[in-house]
Amino acid sequence: MSGKYIKNLLCIGAGYVGGPTMAMIASKCPQYRVTLVDINHQRIDEWNSDRLPIYEPGLDEVVRAARGKNLFFSTDIENNIREADIIFVSVNTPTKTFGVGAGMAADLQYWEKTARQIIACSESSKIVVEKSTLPVRTALAMERILNSNDKGLHFDVLSNPEFLAEGTAIKDLLSPDRVLIGSRLTDSGVAARQQIVDIYANWVPADKILTSDVWSSELSKLVANVFLSQRISTINAISAICEKTEADVTNVARAVGMDQRIGARYLNASIGFGGSCFKKDILNLVYISKSYGLDEVADYLHYVVKMNDYQKERFVESMLQAMFNTLAGKRICLFGFAFKADTGDTRESPAIYIAKRLLEERADLVITDPKALRNARKDLAGGGDHVTYIADPYEAVSGCHAIAVMTEWDLYKSLDYKKIFEKMIKPAFIFDGRNIIDHPRCFDIGFNIYPLGKPPLTHLE
Ligand SMILES: NC(=O)c1ccc[n+]([C@@H]2O[C@H](COP(=O)([O-])OP(=O)(O)OC[C@H]3O[C@@H](n4cnc5c(N)ncnc54)[C@H](O)[C@@H]3O)[C@@H](O)[C@H]2O)c1
Repeated sequence: MSGKYIKNLLCIGAGYVGGPTMAMIASKCPQYRVTLVDINHQRIDEWNSDRLPIYEPGLDEVVRAARGKNLFFSTDIENNIREADIIFVSVNTPTKTFGVGAGMAADLQYWEKTARQIIACSESSKIVVEKSTLPVRTALAMERILNSNDKGLHFDVLSNPEFLAEGTAIKDLLSPDRVLIGSRLTDSGVAARQQIVDIYANWVPADKILTSDVWSSELSKLVANVFLSQRISTINAISAICEKTEADVTNVARAVGMDQRIGARYLNASIGFGGSCFKKDILNLVYISKSYGLDEVADYLHYVVKMNDYQKERFVESMLQAMFNTLAGKRICLFGFAFKADTGDTRESPAIYIAKRLLEERADLVITDPKALRNARKDLAGGGDHVTYIADPYEAVSGCHAIAVMTEWDLYKSLDYKKIFEKMIKPAFIFDGRNIIDHPRCFDIGFNIYPLGKPPLTHLE
């Protein structure tokens, strides 16, 4: 307990999840003092500035309303651990790049370092909450590490996976489909779980707060990502069939999605899923399945990722084929670089793979994106003179042979494509990797249009 606050909440890791989640908790719960810490000092400086480190619609307002009142961003990890009653851990859990499980298993080094730092700095017992997405049964390992302390302290380790989606994080946090909190089913575990329920109960209806055992909670997050990404890979596989059969994937998706058992969302054919989570979380589950000898399960899940890779390569090959089998020296404008609309995040963006493949084909690239150019510059740092970055799409297309739509930003739906056509080299191509542009209209303007999963509209015979 500390003065005017009933509890001190700490979040270790002020990234895409930690930042918005804790800002929402602070804004809804003035009775808690909420602090975020991070080893990345620049990130903390940006959280304390007018230019936040991540773009997320509505985030600025939520942060501004609570920052300095009961929401604080700090680099002082030690003191904040000491003073915390409840510690959320939201550090990154990327795919391991070395040793056993390289390229597949989760790299838990950041998590374990955090656990050891919690023991080193703690002077009182605490609740530790997994916010990061972790392999099932990680809480057990964490509990063992934390409770091996020689200070007589007790730590309850809970799982409270985050289901927010980037681009709609604030909306998702404000009215989540559900909040999941897993704990051990011991008296201490259940009491700790109730403390987390009490936080969310400040704004989330009781029937949307689910409690469970800790292993089901950890696994549920991975399974949610399997279902979501599997839908994308399925519709993308169908898009390949549509292109061979002259069916239209949008019509197929509409007909299929009206079945209430299936539902209409996540059925847009595209160049594939990206973001920091889907691929790593599926591979993580593939690795877990293999390690339990469930080879058929592992192979089945692995195909979701393989199909995603296939779709990106297929897109590049169709560009190559349509543009007379050579891209060398041709100027191609990528519309969007973020892995999805309404975020500046480019982690695992399909645009990275496609851009690199186009550079291999010796194309010159112009990248435009309303929010992701800073990250795109880092992702394509090796591209040298062959890549330019231009925020204004009308300027970006000047002298280009083709446009390839990478991100479904609304902005690209309403551009003046007549004006764009006039600025491009002819024959001018649009490869719509998100099916967001008005294809018949752009065809009438003079473009050769290559959508995904639909017959092309071309003036070339
Ligand atoms: N991004 C999403 O949409 C999303 C959604 C749900 C769940 N998740 C999961 O949440 C977790 C975090 O994801 P993210 O996108 O916020 O990652 P992120 O990379 O944006 O943020 C993680 C932060 O943790 C910091 N960090 C790492 N080790 C630290 C340490 N020892 N002490 C203090 N800070 C440390 C890093 O500097 C970084 O700022 C991952 O497990 C991810 O799978 C992400």
